Amino acid sequence: MSRRDWLAMEEWLPDDVDSLLDLAASIKRGEVDGGLEKRVLAMVFMDPSLRTRASMETAMFLHGGHALCLEPGKGSWAMETELDVVMDGTTVEHIIEAARVLSRYADALAVRSFPKGTDWAVEREDRTIRHFAEFATVPVINLESSRRHPCQGLADAMTLRERLGETAGKRFVLQWAWHPKALPTAVPASAAIAAAHLGMEVVIARPQGYDLDPDDYTAVEALATARGGSMRVTDDLEGAIEGAHAVYPKSWGALGHFGQPEAERALREGKRDWRLTEERMATTADGKGFAMHCLPVRRNVEIDGAVLDGPQSAVIDQAENRLHVQRALLLELIGTSG
Ligand code: CP
Repeated sequence: MSRRDWLAMEEWLPDDVDSLLDLAASIKRGEVDGGLEKRVLAMVFMDPSLRTRASMETAMFLHGGHALCLEPGKGSWAMETELDVVMDGTTVEHIIEAARVLSRYADALAVRSFPKGTDWAVEREDRTIRHFAEFATVPVINLESSRRHPCQGLADAMTLRERLGETAGKRFVLQWAWHPKALPTAVPASAAIAAAHLGMEVVIARPQGYDLDPDDYTAVEALATARGGSMRVTDDLEGAIEGAHAVYPKSWGALGHFGQPEAERALREGKRDWRLTEERMATTADGKGFAMHCLPVRRNVEIDGAVLDGPQSAVIDQAENRLHVQRALLLELIGTSG
Protein backbone atom coordinates (compact mmCIF):
# COMPACT_ATOMS: atom_id res chain seq x y z
CA MET A 1 0.00 0.00 0.00
CA SER A 2 1.26 3.53 -0.75
CA ARG A 3 2.26 5.82 2.10
CA ARG A 4 -0.56 7.73 3.80
CA ASP A 5 -0.35 10.84 5.94
CA TRP A 6 -2.88 12.04 8.51
CA LEU A 7 -2.82 15.79 8.05
CA ALA A 8 -6.51 16.71 7.88
CA MET A 9 -9.62 14.55 8.37
CA GLU A 10 -11.32 15.87 5.24
CA GLU A 11 -8.40 14.63 3.11
CA TRP A 12 -9.33 11.02 3.88
CA LEU A 13 -12.29 9.23 2.32
CA PRO A 14 -15.27 9.36 4.71
CA ASP A 15 -15.53 5.56 4.66
CA ASP A 16 -11.90 5.33 5.80
CA VAL A 17 -12.57 7.76 8.66
CA ASP A 18 -15.58 5.66 9.65
CA SER A 19 -13.36 2.56 9.63
CA LEU A 20 -10.93 4.31 12.00
CA LEU A 21 -13.80 5.20 14.32
CA ASP A 22 -15.09 1.61 14.24
CA LEU A 23 -11.60 0.28 15.00
CA ALA A 24 -11.21 2.79 17.85
CA ALA A 25 -14.49 1.59 19.38
CA SER A 26 -13.31 -2.01 19.11
CA ILE A 27 -10.00 -1.07 20.76
CA LYS A 28 -11.88 0.69 23.57
CA ARG A 29 -13.88 -2.51 24.16
CA GLY A 30 -10.57 -4.35 24.63
CA GLU A 31 -10.83 -6.39 21.44
CA VAL A 32 -7.46 -5.49 19.84
CA ASP A 33 -3.97 -6.50 20.99
CA GLY A 34 -0.50 -5.95 19.57
CA GLY A 35 0.15 -4.84 16.02
CA LEU A 36 2.93 -2.28 16.48
CA GLU A 37 5.75 -4.59 17.56
CA LYS A 38 9.18 -3.17 16.62
CA ARG A 39 7.48 -0.08 15.22
CA VAL A 40 8.87 3.35 16.15
CA LEU A 41 7.06 6.67 16.16
CA ALA A 42 9.25 9.80 16.12
CA MET A 43 7.41 12.80 17.56
CA VAL A 44 8.53 16.40 17.11
CA PHE A 45 6.89 18.81 19.54
CA MET A 46 7.61 22.42 18.67
CA ASP A 47 4.89 23.44 21.15
CA PRO A 48 3.72 22.08 24.52
CA SER A 49 1.27 19.27 25.16
CA LEU A 50 -0.21 17.11 27.88
CA ARG A 51 -2.79 14.90 26.16
CA THR A 52 -1.28 14.53 22.71
CA ARG A 53 2.16 13.51 23.90
CA ALA A 54 0.94 11.25 26.72
CA SER A 55 -1.69 9.50 24.59
CA MET A 56 0.66 8.95 21.65
CA GLU A 57 3.39 7.49 23.87
CA THR A 58 0.82 5.28 25.59
CA ALA A 59 -0.68 4.15 22.29
CA MET A 60 2.68 3.00 20.95
CA PHE A 61 3.54 1.23 24.22
CA LEU A 62 0.19 -0.59 24.46
CA HIS A 63 0.67 -2.17 21.03
CA GLY A 64 4.30 -3.18 21.53
CA GLY A 65 5.99 -0.25 19.80
CA HIS A 66 8.10 2.69 20.93
CA ALA A 67 7.65 6.46 20.74
CA LEU A 68 10.51 8.93 20.93
CA CYS A 69 9.90 12.59 21.56
CA LEU A 70 12.00 15.54 20.41
CA GLU A 71 11.46 19.12 21.52
CA PRO A 72 13.43 21.38 19.14
CA GLY A 73 15.33 24.03 21.05
CA LYS A 74 15.06 22.02 24.31
CA GLY A 75 17.48 19.13 24.02
CA SER A 76 17.36 18.84 20.25
CA TRP A 77 18.48 21.50 17.75
CA ALA A 78 16.30 24.52 17.11
CA MET A 79 14.57 23.79 13.82
CA GLU A 80 14.14 25.91 10.72
CA THR A 81 10.77 25.43 9.05
CA GLU A 82 10.92 27.82 6.09
CA LEU A 83 12.40 26.66 2.80
CA ASP A 84 14.99 28.71 0.89
CA VAL A 85 16.34 30.57 3.92
CA VAL A 86 19.90 31.53 4.78
CA MET A 87 20.27 29.88 8.18
CA ASP A 88 22.54 32.45 9.81
CA GLY A 89 20.14 33.10 12.70
CA THR A 90 19.12 30.99 15.70
CA THR A 91 17.95 27.84 13.93
CA VAL A 92 20.50 25.06 13.50
CA GLU A 93 18.71 22.10 11.92
CA HIS A 94 16.42 22.32 8.90
CA ILE A 95 13.23 20.27 8.82
CA ILE A 96 14.36 18.96 5.41
CA GLU A 97 17.22 17.01 7.04
CA ALA A 98 15.21 16.33 10.20
CA ALA A 99 12.37 14.70 8.25
CA ARG A 100 14.76 12.69 6.08
CA VAL A 101 16.89 11.50 9.01
CA LEU A 102 13.99 10.64 11.33
CA SER A 103 12.43 8.68 8.45
CA ARG A 104 15.49 6.38 8.59
CA TYR A 105 14.92 5.66 12.29
CA ALA A 106 11.15 5.59 12.60
CA ASP A 107 8.14 4.10 10.85
CA ALA A 108 6.11 7.30 11.19
CA LEU A 109 6.71 10.94 12.13
CA ALA A 110 4.31 13.02 14.17
CA VAL A 111 4.60 16.80 14.41
CA ARG A 112 3.07 19.59 16.49
CA SER A 113 3.69 23.13 15.32
CA PHE A 114 1.35 26.01 16.18
CA PRO A 115 1.15 29.21 14.12
CA LYS A 116 3.78 31.73 15.17
CA GLY A 117 3.84 34.29 12.42
CA THR A 118 2.13 37.60 11.97
CA ASP A 119 0.61 36.96 8.57
CA TRP A 120 -2.44 34.71 8.25
CA ALA A 121 -1.94 34.59 4.47
CA VAL A 122 1.28 32.66 5.22
CA GLU A 123 0.05 30.62 8.21
CA ARG A 124 -3.05 29.45 6.35
CA GLU A 125 -0.78 27.46 4.00
CA ASP A 126 0.09 25.18 6.94
CA ARG A 127 3.66 25.06 5.70
CA THR A 128 5.46 23.30 8.57
CA ILE A 129 3.35 20.14 8.61
CA ARG A 130 3.16 20.15 4.79
CA HIS A 131 6.95 20.48 4.52
CA PHE A 132 7.44 17.59 6.93
CA ALA A 133 5.13 15.52 4.76
CA GLU A 134 7.04 16.59 1.65
CA PHE A 135 10.46 15.56 2.93
CA ALA A 136 9.59 12.53 5.09
CA THR A 137 9.59 9.10 3.49
CA VAL A 138 7.30 7.56 6.11
CA PRO A 139 3.71 8.51 7.12
CA VAL A 140 3.35 11.89 8.83
CA ILE A 141 0.76 12.52 11.54
CA ASN A 142 -0.45 16.03 12.35
CA LEU A 143 -0.45 16.57 16.12
CA GLU A 144 -1.83 20.13 15.64
CA SER A 145 -0.66 22.48 12.97
CA SER A 146 -1.64 26.03 12.07
CA ARG A 147 -4.86 24.82 10.42
CA ARG A 148 -5.84 21.41 11.74
CA HIS A 149 -5.82 19.11 14.79
CA PRO A 150 -7.19 15.96 13.13
CA CYS A 151 -6.37 13.61 16.04
CA GLN A 152 -8.51 15.82 18.26
CA GLY A 153 -11.21 15.91 15.58
CA LEU A 154 -11.22 12.12 15.43
CA ALA A 155 -11.62 11.89 19.22
CA ASP A 156 -14.41 14.48 19.03
CA ALA A 157 -16.20 12.37 16.41
CA MET A 158 -15.80 9.24 18.54
CA THR A 159 -17.23 11.05 21.56
CA LEU A 160 -20.22 12.35 19.58
CA ARG A 161 -20.94 8.87 18.21
CA GLU A 162 -20.69 7.31 21.69
CA ARG A 163 -22.96 9.85 23.35
CA LEU A 164 -25.55 10.30 20.59
CA GLY A 165 -25.64 6.95 18.79
CA GLU A 166 -27.32 8.29 15.66
CA THR A 167 -25.67 11.63 14.97
CA ALA A 168 -27.35 12.58 11.68
CA GLY A 169 -29.39 15.76 11.96
CA LYS A 170 -28.54 16.37 15.59
CA ARG A 171 -27.25 19.81 16.46
CA PHE A 172 -23.58 20.46 17.18
CA VAL A 173 -22.78 24.00 18.31
CA LEU A 174 -19.25 25.29 17.99
CA GLN A 175 -19.35 28.23 20.35
CA TRP A 176 -16.70 30.93 20.25
CA ALA A 177 -15.58 31.66 23.82
CA TRP A 178 -13.78 34.61 25.33
CA HIS A 179 -10.16 34.01 26.40
CA PRO A 180 -7.38 36.35 27.48
CA LYS A 181 -5.27 35.40 24.45
CA ALA A 182 -5.93 35.08 20.74
CA LEU A 183 -5.79 31.30 20.17
CA PRO A 184 -5.37 29.35 16.91
CA THR A 185 -8.26 28.07 14.80
CA ALA A 186 -7.00 24.51 14.30
CA VAL A 187 -9.15 22.92 17.02
CA PRO A 188 -12.44 24.71 16.26
CA ALA A 189 -12.06 24.07 12.52
CA SER A 190 -11.28 20.39 13.16
CA ALA A 191 -14.20 19.99 15.58
CA ALA A 192 -16.62 21.46 13.04
CA ILE A 193 -15.22 19.15 10.35
CA ALA A 194 -15.68 16.16 12.68
CA ALA A 195 -19.33 17.08 13.31
CA ALA A 196 -19.83 17.65 9.58
CA HIS A 197 -18.39 14.19 8.92
CA LEU A 198 -21.12 12.79 11.20
CA GLY A 199 -23.88 14.50 9.18
CA MET A 200 -24.84 16.83 12.01
CA GLU A 201 -26.51 20.23 11.94
CA VAL A 202 -23.34 22.25 12.52
CA VAL A 203 -23.97 25.69 14.01
CA ILE A 204 -21.01 28.02 14.46
CA ALA A 205 -21.91 30.73 17.00
CA ARG A 206 -19.40 33.56 17.06
CA PRO A 207 -19.43 37.34 17.48
CA GLN A 208 -18.93 39.51 14.41
CA GLY A 209 -15.26 39.57 13.41
CA TYR A 210 -14.56 36.01 14.58
CA ASP A 211 -15.21 34.00 11.46
CA LEU A 212 -13.05 30.98 10.75
CA ASP A 213 -11.03 31.01 7.53
CA PRO A 214 -13.38 30.97 4.50
CA ASP A 215 -11.80 27.70 3.34
CA ASP A 216 -12.74 26.14 6.68
CA TYR A 217 -16.36 27.13 6.19
CA THR A 218 -16.23 25.70 2.66
CA ALA A 219 -14.76 22.42 3.94
CA VAL A 220 -17.31 22.11 6.77
CA GLU A 221 -20.28 22.97 4.57
CA ALA A 222 -19.20 20.65 1.74
CA LEU A 223 -18.65 17.71 4.08
CA ALA A 224 -21.81 18.35 6.13
CA THR A 225 -23.94 18.58 2.98
CA ALA A 226 -22.37 15.46 1.47
CA ARG A 227 -23.11 13.56 4.68
CA GLY A 228 -26.74 14.74 5.00
CA GLY A 229 -26.12 17.55 7.47
CA SER A 230 -25.80 21.31 7.24
CA MET A 231 -23.78 24.29 8.41
CA ARG A 232 -24.77 27.80 9.44
CA VAL A 233 -22.97 30.67 11.13
CA THR A 234 -24.71 32.95 13.63
CA ASP A 235 -24.07 35.56 16.30
CA ASP A 236 -27.20 34.43 18.19
CA LEU A 237 -25.54 32.35 20.92
CA GLU A 238 -28.70 31.68 22.96
CA GLY A 239 -30.64 30.62 19.85
CA ALA A 240 -27.83 28.29 18.79
CA ILE A 241 -27.57 26.53 22.17
CA GLU A 242 -31.31 26.19 22.74
CA GLY A 243 -32.17 22.63 21.71
CA ALA A 244 -28.55 21.70 20.94
CA HIS A 245 -27.30 18.15 21.49
CA ALA A 246 -23.63 19.06 21.92
CA VAL A 247 -21.99 22.40 22.68
CA TYR A 248 -18.26 22.88 22.09
CA PRO A 249 -17.05 26.21 23.48
CA LYS A 250 -13.62 27.13 22.17
CA SER A 251 -11.77 30.38 21.84
CA TRP A 252 -9.99 31.55 18.74
CA GLY A 253 -8.47 34.81 17.62
CA ALA A 254 -9.90 37.19 15.03
CA LEU A 255 -8.15 36.29 11.78
CA GLY A 256 -8.67 39.83 10.51
CA HIS A 257 -6.28 40.96 13.26
CA PHE A 258 -3.90 38.00 13.10
CA GLY A 259 -0.53 39.05 14.51
CA GLN A 260 -2.01 42.35 15.82
CA PRO A 261 -2.58 41.62 19.54
CA GLU A 262 -3.70 45.13 20.51
CA ALA A 263 -6.32 45.39 17.79
CA GLU A 264 -7.47 41.84 18.49
CA ARG A 265 -7.76 42.54 22.21
CA ALA A 266 -9.87 45.62 21.50
CA LEU A 267 -12.26 43.56 19.37
CA ARG A 268 -12.48 40.89 22.11
CA GLU A 269 -13.28 43.42 24.81
CA GLY A 270 -16.77 43.22 26.28
CA LYS A 271 -17.30 39.61 25.14
CA ARG A 272 -16.55 37.77 28.41
CA ASP A 273 -20.16 36.64 28.49
CA TRP A 274 -19.40 34.27 25.59
CA ARG A 275 -18.90 31.49 28.15
CA LEU A 276 -20.65 28.14 28.59
CA THR A 277 -22.74 28.41 31.76
CA GLU A 278 -25.12 26.08 33.62
CA GLU A 279 -27.99 28.34 32.57
CA ARG A 280 -27.11 27.92 28.92
CA MET A 281 -26.65 24.14 29.31
CA ALA A 282 -30.17 23.95 30.79
CA THR A 283 -31.60 25.15 27.46
CA THR A 284 -29.99 22.32 25.43
CA ALA A 285 -32.09 19.42 24.06
CA ASP A 286 -34.27 18.15 26.95
CA GLY A 287 -31.80 19.96 29.22
CA LYS A 288 -29.44 17.04 28.54
CA GLY A 289 -27.09 18.27 25.83
CA PHE A 290 -23.44 17.74 26.62
CA ALA A 291 -20.44 20.05 26.81
CA MET A 292 -17.24 19.35 24.90
CA HIS A 293 -13.77 20.85 24.96
CA CYS A 294 -10.40 19.67 23.68
CA LEU A 295 -8.60 20.73 26.92
CA PRO A 296 -6.67 22.45 28.35
CA VAL A 297 -9.55 24.70 29.39
CA ARG A 298 -9.57 27.87 31.48
CA ARG A 299 -12.21 27.24 34.15
CA ASN A 300 -14.81 29.96 34.59
CA VAL A 301 -13.44 31.71 31.52
CA GLU A 302 -14.40 29.45 28.60
CA ILE A 303 -16.65 27.07 30.61
CA ASP A 304 -18.01 27.39 34.15
CA GLY A 305 -16.48 24.98 36.65
CA ALA A 306 -19.98 23.72 37.52
CA VAL A 307 -20.47 22.59 33.90
CA LEU A 308 -17.04 20.96 33.72
CA ASP A 309 -17.66 19.06 36.95
CA GLY A 310 -21.32 18.28 36.23
CA PRO A 311 -23.12 15.36 34.54
CA GLN A 312 -23.29 17.12 31.17
CA SER A 313 -19.53 17.33 30.72
CA ALA A 314 -17.92 15.06 28.10
CA VAL A 315 -14.46 16.58 28.29
CA ILE A 316 -12.70 13.74 30.12
CA ASP A 317 -14.25 11.14 27.78
CA GLN A 318 -13.00 13.22 24.86
CA ALA A 319 -9.48 13.21 26.28
CA GLU A 320 -9.65 9.44 26.89
CA ASN A 321 -10.82 8.93 23.32
CA ARG A 322 -7.65 10.57 22.04
CA LEU A 323 -5.89 7.38 23.11
CA HIS A 324 -8.33 5.03 21.37
CA VAL A 325 -8.50 6.89 18.05
CA GLN A 326 -4.72 7.29 17.89
CA ARG A 327 -4.24 3.56 18.58
CA ALA A 328 -6.53 2.95 15.60
CA LEU A 329 -4.70 5.49 13.46
CA LEU A 330 -1.26 4.06 14.25
CA LEU A 331 -2.43 0.51 13.54
CA GLU A 332 -3.86 1.69 10.23
CA LEU A 333 -0.75 3.64 9.19
CA ILE A 334 2.11 1.44 10.43
CA GLY A 335 0.52 -1.70 11.88
CA THR A 336 2.51 -4.90 11.43
CA SER A 337 -0.49 -6.79 10.07
CA GLY A 338 -0.94 -4.38 7.12
N1 CP B 1 -6.23 18.62 23.25
C1 CP B 1 -4.88 18.63 23.16
O1 CP B 1 -4.31 18.54 22.07
O2 CP B 1 -4.26 18.67 24.35
P1 CP B 1 -2.70 18.95 24.53
O3 CP B 1 -2.44 20.34 23.97
O4 CP B 1 -2.45 18.85 26.01
O5 CP B 1 -1.93 17.93 23.76
